[in-house]
Amino acid sequence: MKTKLIDMTETIEQSALAEIKTILQRGELVAFPTETVYGLGADATNELAVQRIFAAKGRPSDNPLIVHVASKRQLLTLVTDVPDYVETLIDTFSPGPITYVLKNASNLGKTVTAGLNTIGIRIPNHPVALAILETIERPIAAPSANRSGKPSPTRAIHVLEDLAGKIACIVDGGSTNIGLESTVVDCTKSVPFILRPGAITREQIAEVVGACDIYETEKITEQPKSPGMKYVHYAPEAPLMLVEKSKIAGVISTLKGKRMALLYLSPSLKETAVEETIFLGDTEEEIAKHLYDILRSLKKDKFDVILCEMPTLKEESALVDRLKRAATEVVT
Ligand code: TXA
Ligand code: MG
Repeated sequence: MKTKLIDMTETIEQSALAEIKTILQRGELVAFPTETVYGLGADATNELAVQRIFAAKGRPSDNPLIVHVASKRQLLTLVTDVPDYVETLIDTFSPGPITYVLKNASNLGKTVTAGLNTIGIRIPNHPVALAILETIERPIAAPSANRSGKPSPTRAIHVLEDLAGKIACIVDGGSTNIGLESTVVDCTKSVPFILRPGAITREQIAEVVGACDIYETEKITEQPKSPGMKYVHYAPEAPLMLVEKSKIAGVISTLKGKRMALLYLSPSLKETAVEETIFLGDTEEEIAKHLYDILRSLKKDKFDVILCEMPTLKEESALVDRLKRAATEVVT
């Protein structure tokens, strides 16, 4: 299959939107930008189209997809037993980087929810994503548009690297703004519960609705509630070691002879004697925005090991969560 590239970095043409609608209505796949990462979209009401997502990504079938909608009204038609606090969350944070897991009331096929009785839904805050959703007037199932296991795509070129020839179309909307996937919140109980941390934090949610819980990071490997969290994720080609600053010199000496890259935060590490040092950024937002692009750029033919300085952030920050999941080893 030839993958068509549609450029929406400058303008969103009506004719291009019409073309995308036709492709989606045919049951084919369209990758498109959101404010978090690029999504691989299919008409969520078309069972065969949804199955194509799993095939193109190499995604395990027990990992449900996030359904994207254009509005709160559309969101509420797909769910039932909605606790009162959910409308407050939607009014405060959506469109935005947050996914609500709610009791499924839709007649979408089994594949999209991986057979669960809940459904994850979000309203993305990106002009291209919203224009596509408003044009198609149907829910769009869209996981991140990477091959399973790889870092999520934050630029159209990343999608092309992973899925060229496997999907009908990629819409280029430039680099995504946030760079890490949305906060996934289980909203089926009386208190919201974060299954995957993202740009919307536990504090922000608790501030508007009174309380919010989060899974304990130590339990990452135990029976996860969000099926997707049990798989290897976000990994660069070479093994990644996440190392506390004070341990970096020691780790480097034990790895003598290996070709190493060091992703650093402290300016004093810039001149470290390894093949390459790469600065991760000054702020949490800046690091998040570029992280996956950097991880993708580190190819195994150039490096045997990637070392990454552990950020001094809360355990539950999305950045620490993703780095831990990308790492084969954590040295603290
Ligand atoms: O920012 C994002 O959320 C991006 C963009 C494209 O919207 N999408 C994304 O999708 O990251 P994906 O499929 O890569 O991750 C979806 C996560 C998985 O961990 C999945 O297990 C969880 O959401 N999830 C989806 N539906 C769920 C449900 N009903 N119950 C629990 N977890 C669910
Ligand atoms: Mg993903």
